[in-house]
Amino acid sequence: MAEHAPRAFVCGWPITHSRSPLIHRYWLAEHRINGSYDAVAVDPAGFDDFVGGLREAGWAGGNVTIPHKERAVALAERREAAAERIGAANTLWFENGRLHAANTDWSGFAANLDQGAPGWRDRERAVVLGAGGAARAVIHALQVAGYRQIAIVNRTVERAQALAARFGDGVGTAPWKGLGGLLADCDLLVNTTSLGMEGAPGHDFDLAGLGDRTIVTDIVYVPLVTPLLAQAAARGCVTVDGLGMLLHQAVPGFEAWFGVRPQVTDALRALVIADM
Ligand code: ATR
Repeated sequence: MAEHAPRAFVCGWPITHSRSPLIHRYWLAEHRINGSYDAVAVDPAGFDDFVGGLREAGWAGGNVTIPHKERAVALAERREAAAERIGAANTLWFENGRLHAANTDWSGFAANLDQGAPGWRDRERAVVLGAGGAARAVIHALQVAGYRQIAIVNRTVERAQALAARFGDGVGTAPWKGLGGLLADCDLLVNTTSLGMEGAPGHDFDLAGLGDRTIVTDIVYVPLVTPLLAQAAARGCVTVDGLGMLLHQAVPGFEAWFGVRPQVTDALRALVIADM
């Protein structure tokens, strides 16, 4: 009898630019797994029905991306604590017949820094630019890593304040134009805004106070070297681009659906870069 081939998806709206199929199909081929991974366009009005029909349609699970990450937490039957705390899930799978939800953006962020800036966990002061969903995953990762002082700097200060209240002790806010004053004491600077992304405006941060002891990372990965990372590197900082976060966040899902824990290798990285 032919072995049942597990099927996984990435769903979002729009979904055309997702690089997840490239990543998962690479791993499927590498491990000679008889399975599939496909992009599915699901609009916000159709998401509940899509999730409700997963079991019957025979999906092993899948990834959820913008704008469905928040709703995915609510619809799952079991959710990991991190997904609950972040308020968003990007990975769904069935376990003992129940639909589980996890957030692997935060662990992907941490794994990327483990690879690109070993020692980042020994530090304690971070500045996070932005206050959207990506910032929530990053702040959770920083708290798990033991960061004791986290300043959120966001254009819309109310969103920064709401996040600071959500994550509690040690998380504060600073005005958008106040970044310059935080840099001298900053161990880790993280951009979670879309500034610097291809097609988006560039940043207007004052980096005059940025010294070479600060680790700088960007979750934007197109372009790979954002203006922020280029300027930080010119100042002698260790910099970590955002592509590794995308690659590492994919690992737990692949393992849940296909039963093999895949590796993030230079060859995979090169494949995704060639597709940009
Ligand atoms: P995500 O879930 O990817 O984090 P989001 O929730 O839309 O996306 O958040 C985008 C972040 O980029 C926000 O912090 C946003 O700032 P506001 O809260 O002020 O909107 C930030 N951002 C986007 N465009 C920006 C711009 N032109 N200048 C400054 N910040 C910007």
